Amino acid sequence: MIRCWRLDDTRQTLVLGSRNDHLAEVIYWGPRLPDTEDLNALYQAHLIDITGGMLDLNPELSICPEATRTFPGQPGLNLRSKDGTPILPKFCFEKAEEVADALTLTFTDAPNGLTFTGRFSIDAHTHVIEAQSAVTSEAPVHLHWLSAPVFPAPQFSDEMIDFAGRWCGEFQMNRTPWSAGIRYRENRTGRTGHEHFPGLIVPCRGATNATGHAYAFHYGWSGGHRMIAEELPDGRRQIQFGHASSVEMAPQTHFETAKLFAMFSDDGLNGCGVAFQRHLRDRIVHWPDAKRPRPVHYNCWEAVYFRHNLPELKDIATRAAALGAERFVLDDGWFGNRDDDTRALSDWEVDPRKYPDGLTPLIEHVQSEGMRFGIWFEPEMINPDSNIHRLHPDWALGGEDQILGRQQKALNMALPEVRDFLFDRISAILRDHDIDYIKWDHNRVLPAPDAAQTRGSYALIDALRAAFPKVEIESCASGGARIDFGILSRTHRVWLSDSNDALERLKMQHNAAIFLPLAVTGSHVGPRRCHTSGRIFDIRFRAWVAAQRHMGFEMDPRELTEEEAKVLTEVTHWWKDNRDWMTSADILRLDSADPAVIAEQQLAEGGGQFVVFAGKAATSDQITPRPLRLTRLSPDQMYRIELVNRADAPALSRGNPLLKNGSLTASGAYLMNHGINLPWSFPDTMWVVQGKLA
Ligand code: DGJ
Repeated sequence: MIRCWRLDDTRQTLVLGSRNDHLAEVIYWGPRLPDTEDLNALYQAHLIDITGGMLDLNPELSICPEATRTFPGQPGLNLRSKDGTPILPKFCFEKAEEVADALTLTFTDAPNGLTFTGRFSIDAHTHVIEAQSAVTSEAPVHLHWLSAPVFPAPQFSDEMIDFAGRWCGEFQMNRTPWSAGIRYRENRTGRTGHEHFPGLIVPCRGATNATGHAYAFHYGWSGGHRMIAEELPDGRRQIQFGHASSVEMAPQTHFETAKLFAMFSDDGLNGCGVAFQRHLRDRIVHWPDAKRPRPVHYNCWEAVYFRHNLPELKDIATRAAALGAERFVLDDGWFGNRDDDTRALSDWEVDPRKYPDGLTPLIEHVQSEGMRFGIWFEPEMINPDSNIHRLHPDWALGGEDQILGRQQKALNMALPEVRDFLFDRISAILRDHDIDYIKWDHNRVLPAPDAAQTRGSYALIDALRAAFPKVEIESCASGGARIDFGILSRTHRVWLSDSNDALERLKMQHNAAIFLPLAVTGSHVGPRRCHTSGRIFDIRFRAWVAAQRHMGFEMDPRELTEEEAKVLTEVTHWWKDNRDWMTSADILRLDSADPAVIAEQQLAEGGGQFVVFAGKAATSDQITPRPLRLTRLSPDQMYRIELVNRADAPALSRGNPLLKNGSLTASGAYLMNHGINLPWSFPDTMWVVQGKLA
């Protein structure tokens, strides 16, 4: 007997089928099928042939492939009984529950006392499919691996794209050709990590940023993940995502994966990016007030580091406000005897040496300058040189002889007493002060990965969010080492990277936009000479790169020349004038004809206006700029476009391209097919072009 189910939105259809009560498999995933499609016929049609040297039937590539059905690849579930004996499940259909846009499939394995559940839902607006697996056992069992529902990868694809990184170099895109066997990525650091962002794009042949078919995945979990992209001996391909393997330490009766976010796009990587951006912004993040404009930040870290001095901080705050800042974030160094990074983590009480009258005088000053106040914590961490470690050495994770990270250990977040302690200390600071923002840091990897740690961190954040619902949280982990939809369902901004180097940022932001909208992506104007790269960039470039996302400043404003302050104030003004529509816009990566140009187009909801940021990341091979093609405009509509910063054209731009001196009114068809001619420019500069329906 064959059973089939389908989930649809306007652009994609996902069909699952099950034969003879076996676990279901995805039998079709791609462009929307007609309502009249005969799903049973599709089931028969998706079966592939067999030849010599093969079994007499191809085992299903099911949503949880089972070794007991001679599946030739990695199974979706790996369990052992309490005494260590492997359990080899074989599931049988139990029930299917279908409600609007959601499907839950349940299968049982009676001899082993197991139940497997696969949940799927599709979002008609964002086009994101959420999928999650759960396993329940009558007796406690050890779990080594549970994959979120397994999806097939397309055959018409030559490569996959995933994202690696490092401190100050997040979101580096890797392209790996498909070949027989496995591409296996696993993050065993116990946090989402710089190294392996939990995302994957599988473009079909010929797909670009703006065109073609592509499939995308993101695993929303902050404890480290495992990804398997496998080509089976018969040529079929499977994608598995789950927690890193063997991170459940105790035998239990119930396990579930985090949500896997997946989608099919019929307009290239941008179709994936727009879906993730909208889903994250409109479905995942819980904004205290979604309508409140994102405030311009000032963060004092790179200005003062641990040298907190009240008169100096007040002076800096006054200058930051004059530049346009609307929120002042007091970074590391305000608590315990934290004079450097060797001590005091966990001693979450205001340092009376630096703040003899507490934080209130600084907060009141910040508020008198029209800014709100935010503060830094690193709750999950403890320095051996801290009062709390001296009192509770047993609260720290890991052995005595462990390698420290930034001279610190991680706290055991699975212990309720640790969470209670942190809740009390953090809530005392929030209760006693007018603070509406936390920068929540996490600066070392765990001594060993453990899912209970991530659940403990989530529980603490959830408790604080419930107690202080107006407080927003920024997720930081030495920059971008904790960015995922799991942490973002309880936070509101990510610190993409500790690199404020505008060129590095330009590249990172471009790639991170496949997953992250402007609203959550912090981007700051750093010091003139970048502290992490040693490079010097013009203030215009630094300011415009920050203006691409949630803008802020992080340099010491006392270093700014009058001219630099003027430029920064103007760009900040521009950002404030445009942030309302940009916050709900789609970020579209442009296919630049010149590899030296990294360009994006932010297109307003409804398509009535847009801004193009064209960053010159290197000198070009050819002598004059190549036209830059725009995207997703209406071909028949007319648009009036202008170069916002045309005054920045250098003297070496000697000609007169139209945009250098005036506006251009042209059809969407022209702008998307010919593209715009920008003036010649130096490397490490940015052109900003705005367009509106004429
Ligand atoms: C690492 C963060 O990424 C920085 O922005 C800063 O907050 C420091 N930690 C403070 O110790």
